[in-house]
Amino acid sequence: MSKTDRAGRKKRVFSGMQPSGEAHLGNYLGALRPWVELQSEYDCVFCIVDDHAITAGGDPAEMPANVMDLAVSFLAVGLDPEKAIIFVQSDVHEHTELAWLFNAVTPVGDLERMTQYKDKSQHFESIPAGILNYPILQAADILLYKGEAVPVGEDQRQHLELTRDIARKFNATYGDTFPETEALIDKGVGRILGLDGNAKMSKSLGNTVGILAEPDAVWDRVRTAVTDPQRIRRDDPGRPEICNVFTLHGHFTDDATRADIEAKCRAAEIGCVDCKRILSDNIADAFAPFRDRAAHFRAHPEDVRKVLDDGAERARGIARETMTEVRRKMGLDWRSAII
Ligand code: TRP
Repeated sequence: MSKTDRAGRKKRVFSGMQPSGEAHLGNYLGALRPWVELQSEYDCVFCIVDDHAITAGGDPAEMPANVMDLAVSFLAVGLDPEKAIIFVQSDVHEHTELAWLFNAVTPVGDLERMTQYKDKSQHFESIPAGILNYPILQAADILLYKGEAVPVGEDQRQHLELTRDIARKFNATYGDTFPETEALIDKGVGRILGLDGNAKMSKSLGNTVGILAEPDAVWDRVRTAVTDPQRIRRDDPGRPEICNVFTLHGHFTDDATRADIEAKCRAAEIGCVDCKRILSDNIADAFAPFRDRAAHFRAHPEDVRKVLDDGAERARGIARETMTEVRRKMGLDWRSAII
């Protein structure tokens, strides 16, 4: 996909992340690191999606700090308010308004088919409608800014397909308004397993490490990482190709060292503990500048506030324009009856 349109204007990228506090290794590799790259090449809008987070049923008392901690993580990794719009979803009320309007063009059957819905709804005796309608709000997030591309992991691909369906149906019903958003899937990352060898890194599973963790804390987590299960004793040869620790080296360790580790693992010349030690040191080094920047923002929360206030203001400017157009196209402009 080209990065600009025919007029040479940068394409709009939108992405969002739920606020569950400080970002972790999986958020970083799967989203934040690619976002930092994208912000120079595209017209980017990055959102902390607290309106989505309420469907997870967390403690409201923890939400404000979780939003702040994620904002600090955004800024710590190098998301830059000079390059991208960075804001909190609930500051821009047009998200929830557009989500309601999209109810008119979204078949319930499509929502019920979403695998994430099927997974999440199993945990409830009485399923909150928000779990079902979650992807409508996600479509509203993206289309409110007429987002042309969205960097997403494999697990969000289906939600993006639904976003395209909603745009198509809206355009067919009310007139051409929204782009058909493309997925930007980062092939370099692939699937990142949790340190426990489990499907996905997540804070709640405790199988990851915070991006602002001190070196000791990084080691505490990396030390526990699952390696090749067939390598039981140190002199058993290892299989790097199936080892999650080796995969993670791919993101943090230079090629020469990695080739050395690979050979020595196969020959049982390096043990898993030493291999993890190298990984842990490299992760801690990669995160060092993040810790420094985070320390600044923690000491100056008013700077974070300013970034988010300014971001919301800029986001609102775009959102208001889209909503004026959408309301008019849907007939929600009764004043037009007065001539
Ligand atoms: N559902 C996404 C997730 O859980 C978060 C999200 C909300 C999002 N709105 C979005 C991602 C819009 C991309 C675009 O990861």
